[in-house]
Amino acid sequence: MELKNLIELALEAKDRSTYTPYSHFRVGAAVEMEDGSVYTGGNIEIASYSPTNCAERTAIFKAVSEGKREIKKIVITGDAKNTFPCGVCRQVIREFSENPMIVVANSVDDYKVYTLEELLPHSFGPEYLKRGNDV
Ligand code: THU
Repeated sequence: MELKNLIELALEAKDRSTYTPYSHFRVGAAVEMEDGSVYTGGNIEIASYSPTNCAERTAIFKAVSEGKREIKKIVITGDAKNTFPCGVCRQVIREFSENPMIVVANSVDDYKVYTLEELLPHSFGPEYLKRGNDV
C-alpha cells in the first residue's frame, strides 16, 4: 500500500475507535504486513491504568491473531506532534519484524521514517531463545 494511504488509515484509527477516558490522549496506528494485509488500531485505556493497550499493539495484535507474522510498515500518529512509539511497543515491533519501516506521522504530508535499529538499538529478540543460535 502507498505510504500516504497507510498514514490516512492511522489518522482515521486515531479519530475513530480510540477509548481514552483517562489521558484523553489519542493514538492511532496502521500496520502493513508482508503479505500486504493492513490492520489498524487505537489505544485503549483501563481504569486501573496498567492494562492499557497502546495503538501500535492493538494493530499488531490484530494482525498476529489473524496469523500474520511479519511487519513491513507501521505508521504511528498521536495527539502530540511526532508521537513516537513507546519502549514496550518498540519491543513488540521487534518481535514481528526484521527491518520494518517505522513512520511517525503528523499528517500525510508531514512524517518521518525510522529504522528499528534507530529506535531500538542493540535489541533483544526471538533469535536469542533459539537453541544453538550463536547471536
Ligand atoms: N500510547 C500509545 O497508544 N502508543 C504509544 O506508543 C505511546 C502511548 C497511549 C497509551 C495511553 O493510552 C496514552 O497514549 C497516554 O500515555
